[in-house]
Amino acid sequence: MKVTVFNGSPRGRKSNTHRIVDPLLEGARQAGAQTEEIFLAEHNINHCCGCFSCWTKTPGKCVIHDDMSDFIDLFFESDYVGMATPVYGLFMTSILKKFNERLLPTATPHIHKNEDGSCYHEERMHYPRFFMIANAGFPGEHNFDLFKTYMALQNPILEIYRNCGGVLEDWPEESVKKRINKFYDALREAGREMVTKGQVSETIIKSIHAELISDEEFMAGANQYWDEEITKGGL
Ligand SMILES: Cc1cc2nc3c(=O)[nH]c(=O)nc-3n(C[C@H](O)[C@H](O)[C@H](O)COP(=O)(O)O)c2cc1C
Repeated sequence: MKVTVFNGSPRGRKSNTHRIVDPLLEGARQAGAQTEEIFLAEHNINHCCGCFSCWTKTPGKCVIHDDMSDFIDLFFESDYVGMATPVYGLFMTSILKKFNERLLPTATPHIHKNEDGSCYHEERMHYPRFFMIANAGFPGEHNFDLFKTYMALQNPILEIYRNCGGVLEDWPEESVKKRINKFYDALREAGREMVTKGQVSETIIKSIHAELISDEEFMAGANQYWDEEITKGGL
């Protein structure tokens, strides 16, 4: 069993996104899976040029020669594929969006219709099961609305939406640290369940989405942090 996550944060290995992916994959490994996290920012991925050659002249193959061809192989070798991103402008980063668009060779041009009237392109090979991870800088839930709309068409096995993502980096308050550790425990368990049961229980999904910090406490801490950084004159 192979679980692969494509991390679309420009901050790569230092990202809050990675702080969420890491325990999830740790749990998957504990349950016997082989795991891999690809930091897309470290790779050469050009944007789709919209030529549709991958549907006509070279079926299943992109005419652009960059790191994406290896990632399409990895996509099909995986049983579970996660896409992980910080929220940028209410959706995924351009890094992950570019990656998504370059998955075009994995489908054929033929259009089919779902029972609900939505349309999709036929899969060229059997797709892996899918999960989404997003972390937002803001409190609240509305920053995930576009992800939820997108995911409604993808039949994902798991969706993780973490608000106040900055608390994962460092937060002095002990009670918040304790809640963050519980969040990481729930992510490990989600990884284990995904591999052993093929699904994640409602209890674990609820623990993953438990509040880490109140909106007011987060805003006060975050505003103070940025005031100090502005005074210092840079990060
Ligand atoms: C260009 C840019 C756009 C952003 N847009 C949003 C946004 O629309 N909503 C939000 O909640 N946070 C937004 N953020 C904040 C990031 O989502 C937040 O800092 C996140 O924790 C960064 O995660 P990372 O460390 O994995 O990159 C934005 C940050 C940047 C740099």
